[in-house]
Amino acid sequence: MLLIHDLVKHYRMGEQIITAIAGVSLTIQEGEFFAIMGASGSGKSTLLNIIGCLDRPTAGKVELDGRDLSQCDDATLARVRNQKIGFVFQQFNLLPRFSALENVELPLIYAGSKPQQRKLQALAVLERVGLSERTHHKPSELSGGQQQRVAIARAIVNRPRLLLADEPTGALDSRTSTEIMDLFTELGAQGMAIVMVTHDPEVATYAHKIIRLRDGRILSGTPARQ
Ligand SMILES: Nc1ncnc2c1ncn2[C@@H]1O[C@H](COP(=O)(O)OP(=O)(O)O)[C@@H](O)[C@H]1O
Ligand SMILES: [Mg+2]
Repeated sequence: MLLIHDLVKHYRMGEQIITAIAGVSLTIQEGEFFAIMGASGSGKSTLLNIIGCLDRPTAGKVELDGRDLSQCDDATLARVRNQKIGFVFQQFNLLPRFSALENVELPLIYAGSKPQQRKLQALAVLERVGLSERTHHKPSELSGGQQQRVAIARAIVNRPRLLLADEPTGALDSRTSTEIMDLFTELGAQGMAIVMVTHDPEVATYAHKIIRLRDGRILSGTPARQ
């Protein structure tokens, strides 16, 4: 469902050209869970941002559900991002003045769903991530693990085909990280494809496959579990 072919990304810094991605190809099927590992600066976030339509490649192809994203205009990319892709970040990126429920409703507002329907849908997802009791809490009134659950609920409320996560457990303790990985495993079992960047070898073992990047290239792809 996600096909990446010969992806290249250059950044220009004044006179200098930095190659962040130097020819990456990979394919991810429905329900597959990939972890991307590699040293700082190896291109992990750039790769994830391009897959997530937050950045554009210099060359190469990204195809999601048969559509070539590198050919899309900005409006189409924004729509694809809203409907087909969920994004989770290390620092949660919740809106501080909004309740858990309001944060989760946001993508539904962008998608144009009606107030009553979007509230029900947001409540259902919050229940699914185990936060039924915390729907009216603001992010500052929640623990890190709870905030990440809200962020995951927000990422999956539109039922995306693909979940992208950049160091989702980077700000969490190991017990909470395990809970978040159990949740990812459940989502994968329900057919969502997941691509997660992580530094943590323990966290990476939850994935089906570990892809190691070095200098913008895939060094190896190995099964995480036997
Ligand atoms: N917006 C940008 N402008 C210029 N260089 C960038 C930009 N984003 C990333 N880079 C460079 O691209 C390389 C890969 O960065 P990144 O994808 O953030 O790596 P990682 O997430 O693995 O730490 C690094 O050398 C980084 O400095
Ligand atoms: Mg990064």
